[in-house]
Amino acid sequence: SLRVDNVQALAGRVSSEIPERYVRPERKEEDAVDVNGHDVSEIYSIPIIDFSRLANPVSSKEETAKLHSACEDWGFFQLVNHGVPEEIINRMKQNTEEFFKLPLEEKEAFAQLPGQIEGYGQAFVQSEEQKLDWGDILFLGTLPPSVRQMRFWPTNPTSFRETIHEYAIELKKVSDLLLQKMSQNLGLEPEKLYDLFNDGIQAIRFNYYPPCPSPEKVLGLSPHSDAVGLTLLLQVNEQQGLQIRRKGGWLPVKALPQAFIVNIGDIVEILTNGRYKSIEHRAVVSNEKERLSVAGFLSLRIGRMVEPIPELVKEEGLLYRSITFEEYVADLFKRVQADSRRSQASEK
Ligand code: SIN
Ligand code: FE2
Repeated sequence: SLRVDNVQALAGRVSSEIPERYVRPERKEEDAVDVNGHDVSEIYSIPIIDFSRLANPVSSKEETAKLHSACEDWGFFQLVNHGVPEEIINRMKQNTEEFFKLPLEEKEAFAQLPGQIEGYGQAFVQSEEQKLDWGDILFLGTLPPSVRQMRFWPTNPTSFRETIHEYAIELKKVSDLLLQKMSQNLGLEPEKLYDLFNDGIQAIRFNYYPPCPSPEKVLGLSPHSDAVGLTLLLQVNEQQGLQIRRKGGWLPVKALPQAFIVNIGDIVEILTNGRYKSIEHRAVVSNEKERLSVAGFLSLRIGRMVEPIPELVKEEGLLYRSITFEEYVADLFKRVQADSRRSQASEK
């Protein structure tokens, strides 16, 4: 079967020898050409967008322009002053830490079913040979409420379900305003993107990356671009690890404690005919401390078409073909398989 180890439990067992399926040969070559020990995040960093300035008529124009260049040039930015009550953010961080601290048996009461993504477990495993990520996840559909599969929603800590519910509602408020500003920036009807996503699916993935005795050999999360519209990531503790593809290298992101790291997903890249780019990223781990993060994903509803918005197709012509959201998801699975074949090939 394609069942794999729980990484948190594995990390507790291994001393120095990392099981082969977690070892990434490509990381060795990469380190050889790395930036001479420089911490590039000191030199470059993703843009910071102030949400309160987007909403305020006095500063909106300037900040909205900044948002546009962040979406065009980076595909990634940190969003500060987003208005989600600090109390909800802090409760989300605390409940997430509490959940992953529970004994394995308790977490496994919310385990994924074979071949499915929702629940507690690991990222998709498509083959016996696929390289594995050094991390565990809890994946939940959150909005609209009709997509919720409550059997996967943890009951411990006792406030977790309520926290996730409140967080999901707050996250939607933030993504709604972002989509309105993005529409404006693209010269679309102000409600265009908002309308496309308003009946879409929101999901949350909780990531737990245990410490690893040889962190330079593994990846917490393999390189990927997000197959959604937008992602809003909250880093739970002070341990950093997100890296984005930038000018051929991997740029570490220094998450601000209360900020959301927002990135453009593949669907927005397609909708904008490539104007906004979905950037590849990955997560690395540490040998000292676990890392936790909470990724909120905004996606379309089943039945929507995934295709460039006609007003955004200029002289460059259509750069993406039209597919239904269902076909899009099916393609995605094929892509995951192709990626895993590619990483096997690079090993040989
Ligand atoms: C991601 O969801 O791709 C990033 C996760 C992380 O930074 O932990
Ligand atoms: Fe991602």
